[in-house]
Amino acid sequence: MVHQCRLESNLCDAAPRRVHSPPMKRVIAVANQKGGVGKTTTAVNLAASLAATRRRVLLIDNDPQGNATMGSGVDKSQLQSSSCDVLLGEVEIGAALVRVDPGGYDLLPSNQDLTAAEVRLLTMMAGRETKLRNAIAPLRESYDVILIDCPPALNMLTVNSLVAADSVLIPMQCEYYALEGLSALVNTIEQIRAAANESLEIEGILRTMFDPRNNLANEVSAQLIMHFGDKVFRTIIPRNIRLAEAPSFGKPVLFHDKESRGALAYLALAGEMIRREEEERVDAAHTTATGDNGGGVAVGPDASESSGDEPPEGTSDPAAAHSGG
Ligand SMILES: Nc1ncnc2c1ncn2[C@@H]1O[C@H](COP(=O)(O)OP(=O)(O)OP(=O)(O)O)[C@@H](O)[C@H]1O
Ligand SMILES: [Mg+2]
Repeated sequence: MVHQCRLESNLCDAAPRRVHSPPMKRVIAVANQKGGVGKTTTAVNLAASLAATRRRVLLIDNDPQGNATMGSGVDKSQLQSSSCDVLLGEVEIGAALVRVDPGGYDLLPSNQDLTAAEVRLLTMMAGRETKLRNAIAPLRESYDVILIDCPPALNMLTVNSLVAADSVLIPMQCEYYALEGLSALVNTIEQIRAAANESLEIEGILRTMFDPRNNLANEVSAQLIMHFGDKVFRTIIPRNIRLAEAPSFGKPVLFHDKESRGALAYLALAGEMIRREEEERVDAAHTTATGDNGGGVAVGPDASESSGDEPPEGTSDPAAAHSGG
C-alpha cells in the first residue's frame, strides 16, 4: 500500500497537477516493424505505469515471441490458452486472461502458437483483419487502456492490431535509417485508415534507448520533431540497464528498481499521455460548449513548455526546447 502511494506520488511529480480522473478508454497498438526498438519494453512498462495510476489496464501480447508475456512474469510454455486461441475465436478473451502481479494489469499471453494463427488468418477469405477487434469488443468498457504489443513486421498480426486500435504508439531509436522505416509504418497506418479503421490516430512517437551524448541521435531527434511536431512525445526513454534486466526477473521495471531512470521515464510517459488526453477532453468540451473549433491554431510541442509540467529530471527532451544545435 505504502509502495502504491509512493508510486502515485512519483507519478504526480511527473504528471500535471490537473490529472485526477481515470477515463482514457482507448486501445493503443505499440508498433514498429523494425525489430528491437523497445516495443515490448514500452508495452510492459507503460502498462505497469498506467496501472500505478489506478487505471484498469489490459496488455495484449500479439507477438509469437511472447516477450511481453515473459516480461510480465508469465511462463509462455505453460499457457492454458493464449492470444492464438482468442484470435481464432476458439476461446473467449475473458477466459484467457492472466493477472500480472506485481504489475497490476491483466495480460492476454502469447507464445509461438500465434505463428500458426497468423497462417490460418492468411488463408481465410473474409474478416481476417477484424479478428482481434471483434475479440476485444466485449472487454473494451472493462478497461481504461488496452495496450497491444505488436511483432516486428507489418504482417497480419500487426494489421489486426491496427484495425483493433484507436491509436498507434511508435517506439523508435534515433538511428540513421529510423526515419525511412517510419515512413513505411506511416504509409501502412494511412492504408489501414482508408480501408478498415478511419479513426486510427498516431498516439505519439517515442524516442527509446536514447543517449544524449550521441550526436546522430540528437540530429535524428531534431528531424523527428521537424517532421512530426507535437506527435513526438516530450518524454524520452534513456538507455538504462535496469530496463534491460527487468524482463529476466519477470517484472516491469517499477517492481525491479522503482527509482531507476528507466522506471521514472515510463512513469513520465504515462503522465504525459494522461495530460494530453485530459487536454483533448477539455478542448472537446470547450468546442461543444461554444461551437468554436479553435480557429485552427496549431499547438506546437513548445506550447506546454511553460506549463511547469516537466517530466522527472533526466527524462525530459534535450531537444524539446527546440533551441536547435
Ligand atoms: N531503454 C532501454 N535501455 C536499455 N535496454 C533497453 C531499453 N529498451 C529496450 N531495451 C532492451 O533492448 C532489447 C529490445 O527491446 P524490446 O524487446 O523491447 O524491443 P522490441 O521492439 O519489442 O523487439 P522485437 O521487435 O524483437 O519485438 C531488449 O533486450 C530490451 O531489454
Ligand atoms: Mg517485442
